Formats: sequence, structure tokens, C-alpha cells
Amino acid sequence: MSKAKNLTSRRQFLQATGGLAVGSIMPRIANAGYHNDVNDEIRVALVGCGGRGSGAALNAIKNTSGPCRLVAMADVFEDRLDASFSSLAASGGDAVDVPDDRKFLGFDAYKQAMDELRPGDVVILTTPPAFRWVHYSYAIEKKLNVFMEKPVTVDGPSSRKMLELNKKAIAAGLKVGVGLMSRHTIGLQELHARIQDGEIGDITMMRGYRMHGPAATSQSTKKPPTMTDLEYQIRRFHSFIWASGGCFNDFYIHHIDHLCWMKNAWPIKAQALGGKHYKENRNGEAFVDQNFDSYAVEYTFEDGTKFLFDGRIVDGAWGHFSSYVHGTKGVAIAARAGDFSGPQATHKGHVISSETEIWRSKDRSNPYQNEWNVLVQKIRDNEPHNEVETGINATLTSTMGRFAAHTGQEVTFDQMLNHDVELAPQVADLMYSSDAPVMPDEDGFYPVPKPGILTDREY
Ligand SMILES: NC(=O)c1ccc[n+]([C@@H]2O[C@H](COP(=O)([O-])OP(=O)(O)OC[C@H]3O[C@@H](n4cnc5c(N)ncnc54)[C@H](O)[C@@H]3O)[C@@H](O)[C@H]2O)c1
Repeated sequence: MSKAKNLTSRRQFLQATGGLAVGSIMPRIANAGYHNDVNDEIRVALVGCGGRGSGAALNAIKNTSGPCRLVAMADVFEDRLDASFSSLAASGGDAVDVPDDRKFLGFDAYKQAMDELRPGDVVILTTPPAFRWVHYSYAIEKKLNVFMEKPVTVDGPSSRKMLELNKKAIAAGLKVGVGLMSRHTIGLQELHARIQDGEIGDITMMRGYRMHGPAATSQSTKKPPTMTDLEYQIRRFHSFIWASGGCFNDFYIHHIDHLCWMKNAWPIKAQALGGKHYKENRNGEAFVDQNFDSYAVEYTFEDGTKFLFDGRIVDGAWGHFSSYVHGTKGVAIAARAGDFSGPQATHKGHVISSETEIWRSKDRSNPYQNEWNVLVQKIRDNEPHNEVETGINATLTSTMGRFAAHTGQEVTFDQMLNHDVELAPQVADLMYSSDAPVMPDEDGFYPVPKPGILTDREY
């Protein structure tokens, strides 16, 4: 089913135009995957043309470290690719150079888009995370630098695959950014330095909260009959654990990542509560997705300190979206009202008030842009840059919390990494006609976690 949007091949097109189109892209010599010439333009391909992919492509074009040009796009759905192209063409100017014969559709479209790049160019991987290792594998084969969104895996087996793949990427000197943008939030970088300097003392406890109403595609009612299961699940990937790691991984990973960064450690184990309080939406339509609507996780670090995380998707309940670090001398606000948003602050003692405030961050730069400025600079300077291991650790820590809630068991980081249930072993071979990795029962409901009954797998 994969096809370029225009049946004229790129080569035929170039012959017909006397190579004019080639002139629009500066010729350059690829050097073992590296960009050494600062005037050289980096080509970019986008795989997964949704909201974040379109944003990342724009960040690439607008990066402050050197010229980038978007030359190819790939998606499995034409409406998504078209919408992304229209918005990018409207805001990206000449740096969006994607004629129809470099727009690719299908489950192998990622290969065609990456085939348009030269070693050392950059591919953006922003599909649902289930496909990440498949696409990363081809990017490494093509010696491409990569920007990939979080989460980077969905389970133990895909995490182990990513770790193995990443060894190859490091050996090839590829530069790889991961969309954990907290790490590129200047206020959080400053807070990290202050915490290391002892401003709030030794960390004794951390807290993260993401509690709001329905968001993205985390709650789903029954599939319309006009759609296949596979299409429904990919379009509503937050609802399906194989595709995204569920809403837990997709939404909560940012607080989990930046709080563990403040502590310079990953938790060794987790135990958790969770449940789906509401079985239907306010119109009385049944929810069929695999998520709980409420989660409460207690993570434990090797030194015995705790990190508590609460997640809730319930309309009308109290909204709270922030994160805190408690130390022996005071408390820090890491995220004030979102995944990373500042101002970050430190306070003397544990009462948060203007009287107790020690420091408040001032930088308001956009971390989504900062992460691209860094990635492109590292490519141009040929300096090591690989955020994948951090991405895997943050994803596995999220998976550990999710798994603990879904099974009702205490689970360790090592158990999670070595867990043998691969949720979508067929993900590399999917076609439009394939069954989805999880199929509904005859009433249209998908299997859901049963804590205490299903204890060694989630469904
Ligand atoms: N860092 C952040 O703050 C942030 C914010 C939003 C999303 N994200 C991440 O970005 C990723 C995408 O999220 P989104 O909100 O853009 O979702 P989205 O649904 O808007 O976009 C995903 C796109 O990928 C396409 N796609 C799905 N499977 C594909 C495949 N096999 N090959 C090619 N294309 C495929 C879909 O059709 C869709 O266009 C997720 O991993 C999400 O967690 C990160």
C-alpha cells in the first residue's frame, strides 16, 4: 500500500527539470555521517506527521545552529500528512521543500523518506512510540542523525532492543536527540545546578502531579464500523498500551524524567494504585480504551527516598499539574503548571510563599527549540550527543509505575527491563490489512488490566 503521492519518480522529475530541483539543495560531501562544514545545509525528513512531528520539523527549520531544509515526509494516513504539510508550508517558507514525490504513505514510507537523505542528515521520528525501534533501526543503517520523541519504547523487550540499537548509533558517531524537553529547559538546568550545590539540602522526597480532564486520545469509545482496528488504534494511540505505553507513559514521563534528573538517579522499584472510576463518558457512551483514569505511584530510590506521582484524567475534579523536590533544608518547584513550565523556584523550609522564596528562574526560552539548537550544533561540531539511554531509562521508569498499577504488584526496574512480554511483536511487519496487536471482544471492548488477577502481564 506504500506509495509516493506522485507517481512520477524523483529521478524522472529531476531529468525532466534538467536538475533544477537539485540546485535548490546545496551539494555537499557526506563524511562518515558527520557535518563539518557550518555552511552546509542539513536535510531533514519527517516520519510521523502529526502534531508533535510538525512542531519538531518547524523547530528544525528555525534552529539557530545552521540551515536545515525539510525534504521528505512519511505517514500512514494521507489526511495527517496533508494537514502537516499545509501548516508547515504556511509557516516554514523555502525551508519546506517537499514536493508530492517526496511525500510517502504506508507502513514502509519511513524507508522511502529516509532514502531521500544523505548520511549525516537528520530524520525526525514522531510516530506513536511502538514504531520507534523499527524506524531507529533503519536510521542507523542509513547513518542518519535522529530526533525522536518520547516515550522511546513501550515494554521490556522493546527497551532491550533500543539499548542494543543505540550501541550501534554511538559506535557510528550519530547524534540523537530525544524529546524530553525538560532537560533543555534553562530554568530546570539552573535548578539542577542549585540542588547539586545543596540549596535545598539532601533530597528526601519528590512529588509529581498531572491531573486534568480528558486529553489527547487517552479515552476512547467504540470504534466506528468504517475503520479497521489497526487504523483506530494508531489514530487513538494513547488509548492502547502496545502503541504508546498508555496515557501513563505518554503523559507522565516528563515529570518522572525531570524529577529523577534532579535526584541523579532512577528508582529501583515501584508500587502503585490505579483504577478506572468512570466506565462511560458524560453522554453515556462506554469507554473501551485500556487506560485507568486514576494512578498513584510510589517510587523508591536505592537510598530509600521516595518519589510520589499522581495522575488523573477526570473531568471536573481538581486540576493540578506541577512537580516538587523536597530536601533537608527546603523545597523546589520544578514544574509549576505543566510538563516543564517555570518559573522554577527554591524555598527555605517546606512552605511555599513569597517570604520563603530563595530563587526564581527568569529564562523563558522554548525548550522545544533549545533541544534542536543543541542537536544541530552537536552535529555541526561533531561532538558526542546521544540522549537515547536517558530516554530508555525515563520510559522504563514510567513503564514500571504503569505496570505496578496495572498488575497491583511491586515491581523492580530490573524486572521491568528484563520482562518478557512484548506487546506488539509484529510491529515491524504491519500492513493496512493486518489485525491490530490487540483485538476487541464481540462487544467492541479491548482487554484491560486486572490488578491482583493478572499479575505478570498487563492484559
Ligand atoms: N515532548 C512532548 O512534549 C510531546 C508532545 C506531544 C507529543 N509527543 C510525542 O510525539 C509522538 C507523536 O505524538 P503526536 O501528539 O504528534 O501524535 P499524532 O497522532 O498527532 O501524530 C503521530 C503521527 O504519526 C503517524 N503514524 C502513526 N504510525 C505511523 C507509522 N508506522 N509510520 C508513519 N507514520 C505513522 C500518524 O498517522 C500521525 O500523523 C508521541 O510519541 C508523543 O508522546 C511529545
